[in-house]
Amino acid sequence: MLMRGFQKTFSIVFGGTLLLSTFSGDACSIVGYVGGKYCKEFVLKGLSRLEYRGYDSAGFACLTQQNHDLLCIRAEGKLDQLKKKVLNEAVDGFVGIGHTRWATHGAATEANAHPHVDCHNTLAIVHNGIIENFFSLKEQLVAQGHQFVSQTDTEVLAHVLEVELQKQLTLDAAIVDMVSKLKGAYAFIALMRDKPDTLIAVRKSSPLCIGLGNHENFVASDFLAFAGKTNKILFMPDESFAVVTKQAIALYDFKGNLLAQEIKTIDVSPATYEKFEHEHYMLKEIYEQPKVIKKMVDYYVNNEQEVWKNLGISPDQIAQLQSVHLFGCGTSWHAARIGQFFFEILCGLPTSTSLASEFRYMPFFPKKNGLYVAISQSGETADTLEAIRLIKAHELPVMTLTNVVSSTMVRETDGHLLLKAGPEIAVASTKAFTTQIASLYWLAHRIALAKGLITPERMAQAEQELKQAADVLEEAIERYKVDMVKTYAKKYSQAKRFMYLGRHVGYPFAMEGALKLKEISYIFAQGYPAGELKHGSIALVDLETPVVLFSHLDPVIYQKLVANAQEVKARKGHLIVFAFEGQDELIKLADQSFIIGRVAPLLEPLAMAGLMQFFAYSIAKELGCDIDKPRNLAKAVTVE
Ligand code: AGP
Repeated sequence: MLMRGFQKTFSIVFGGTLLLSTFSGDACSIVGYVGGKYCKEFVLKGLSRLEYRGYDSAGFACLTQQNHDLLCIRAEGKLDQLKKKVLNEAVDGFVGIGHTRWATHGAATEANAHPHVDCHNTLAIVHNGIIENFFSLKEQLVAQGHQFVSQTDTEVLAHVLEVELQKQLTLDAAIVDMVSKLKGAYAFIALMRDKPDTLIAVRKSSPLCIGLGNHENFVASDFLAFAGKTNKILFMPDESFAVVTKQAIALYDFKGNLLAQEIKTIDVSPATYEKFEHEHYMLKEIYEQPKVIKKMVDYYVNNEQEVWKNLGISPDQIAQLQSVHLFGCGTSWHAARIGQFFFEILCGLPTSTSLASEFRYMPFFPKKNGLYVAISQSGETADTLEAIRLIKAHELPVMTLTNVVSSTMVRETDGHLLLKAGPEIAVASTKAFTTQIASLYWLAHRIALAKGLITPERMAQAEQELKQAADVLEEAIERYKVDMVKTYAKKYSQAKRFMYLGRHVGYPFAMEGALKLKEISYIFAQGYPAGELKHGSIALVDLETPVVLFSHLDPVIYQKLVANAQEVKARKGHLIVFAFEGQDELIKLADQSFIIGRVAPLLEPLAMAGLMQFFAYSIAKELGCDIDKPRNLAKAVTVE
């Protein structure tokens, strides 16, 4: 049986937005402040910390000190646009809310940006998620004479609250009635002119937490927003709402019953979220990889009992294990595809991998003695959460491999293994990817050890292999970083498209390489199995389409890759190879080669990852792209 681990006090971590709507809606970040200080500073800073989660528009609202007038400022585009507008305003107050948006519901315009207000500008709301029945609610409200100015579902919330506040005698009664009318998954924060010392925070399925300060309180979709201000956090239970003043918090369920409050202590150094001397978070995170991989391995080794307990896998379960099922999205799915080799080769267990975004639409064949592992950096990706829920609905235990201990996935699954990579802020995943590979490698060995398939000595050797691969990753970047920026990035930023090829573990790695380049440089790239080249894609090979080929250490696979390289050269293609030391035949065929130290064969992707990421980074930088916040993307995709 998997056992659900419960931790009252976390020792570190990186917060997580979440959301688990089964509908599309805005994936956003929300923050709120009530206290004795001007709210502007906290709201804007909190939003800055969460901006990587969504950044196509933003907004701020506060009640002015004098008269408690409602001041609402919104801006299209990145948070800087909002900051400029807000900082130009002399007005400030002690109660405020803010929002950054990643639109999926109504265009990213100023009119659609939150906060949204009611007819008489008496209240403002910021919201994450989706109000599923907003259309019918809107029709009723319009019929009653309410006026709408945006296309969003959130505006409906403002008007419903307006109606309820007029109808009900107390604030809590108004919220109880309000939530009874709403369908969907949502978290919202509201402020009201009539209650100038109060914030309302409401949570259903979407995350919301309250930071308890000294004569001030903070509300946010992710506690990262108030890290450094307080370490006392109330994670609001699902289907609850809170009435928050600077002195007190009252927590209720959706029926209006008062709830006990479980306050957690989470110590997070705000410095963890700084990029220091690095131009971009992505660069910082690329460089951090050797350190975090080693730290992760040491953590697993030195906290064996705790790690094993958190995994939630009993010896009986290990003995009976017949299959492994890995699932995730994007980069996490690529890690799953690489991990598949580990479990099959090291544990002899048939292993499947699934794209979580497809999972719910495929037939599901429950495997009683299967190990289901959700892989997610954030622990909040809606597609992956929904896949977890589907598996759990079949009463099968699920484990999460994630970077965020406070995430929804950790809370909803039966066991977890942490990546210990520290906050990953850049939208393009780097250190989460390599720690995912490392932790899957470790887990596969650990299961093999528990099954008696390997010796403790071999386990220790595997741990050393991980550390050695981390060193090789570092050396590879060091070896090429100057020329990469000066020469190669200039040359390759001119390319219109790229093809990335690999075999075996190198194939999912090629897909990851292509994804990295695409998402930050906007150059089209396709990750492809090298053996499939001749079955069609070779038609694309020309001088304008550089082919990036990732080598392999297995002699048989290597020879096949040499043959693929020759196929490219025979068609006058431009060939870039990532090869291992001594692979001269392949290196000689290449127009450009990056030579990497040798590692344990299954860890090839880990060793090559840093340089592969640096390649994409350098090209994107050369092109002047907004690397940490690429267009159209968001860090945690909390909507389907
Ligand atoms: C990675 O660079 C991407 N930004 C994206 O593919 C990401 O890996 C995916 O959305 C899954 O996120 P998760 O690991 O937080 O679940």
